[in-house]
Amino acid sequence: MVAGNWKMNKTLQEGTALAAELKNNVKNPTCEVVIGTPFIHLATVAEMLKGTPVHVAAENCADKESGAFTGEVSAAMVRSTGAEYCIIGHSERRQYYHETNDILREKVRLALANGLKPIFCIGEVKEEREAGRQNDVVRKQLEESVFCFTAEEFAQITLAYEPVWAIGTGLTATPAQAQEMHAYIRSLVNANYNAAVADNTTILYGGSCNEKNAAELFANPDVDGGLIGGASLVADKFMAIINAR
Ligand code: 13P
Repeated sequence: MVAGNWKMNKTLQEGTALAAELKNNVKNPTCEVVIGTPFIHLATVAEMLKGTPVHVAAENCADKESGAFTGEVSAAMVRSTGAEYCIIGHSERRQYYHETNDILREKVRLALANGLKPIFCIGEVKEEREAGRQNDVVRKQLEESVFCFTAEEFAQITLAYEPVWAIGTGLTATPAQAQEMHAYIRSLVNANYNAAVADNTTILYGGSCNEKNAAELFANPDVDGGLIGGASLVADKFMAIINAR
């Protein structure tokens, strides 16, 4: 899978223009292609891309089912737009909006209950990597937010390893660093479920992945694609990354 995360970029007009470019040019991708857009773009973009190989994701959803939560958008609302995926647990949500592993488990539960496929993000900050604690951090994130689900539910979840120090910094993880962590993540899935579930889990790499370094990252056996920020905002760059998969 190659998934874009537009973050808080593009007006509705700019977003639909980018979606139109992708619609016209992404024809027979050899991987699942997803774009994560701001909430207000979802209905328009999902309608435009219906029946094409480009699938649509929200970047977040509420941790509550419905009701008096002003400004929030529920998983059911996201699904009603035609979006099929939902990014959950991005480090920017964890860092700036204080989303804890417990809150994120609830978001995953509601996404699954409403027919959305979560793209669940995990990853350590710079200080944790420097202290050699990256495996412990990622294990705790998985244990507290997604390993409680049944194997059937877990099969709907895509994991995205995004080392926080690599996001938007140009400091891409080396292919060896990515492979090492992805293999570790797959071993955890194996230990918590079984080998078949682990084999079938899609584990994306994210963090300064671009059209120049995507091929060597994706060449690793446990790197199943990418979650792309900045480079997903330009059609040509995003399409080059899709072609690198
Ligand atoms: P960049 O590709 O801009 O580093 O962002 C990665 C990311 O956070 C995707 O979710």
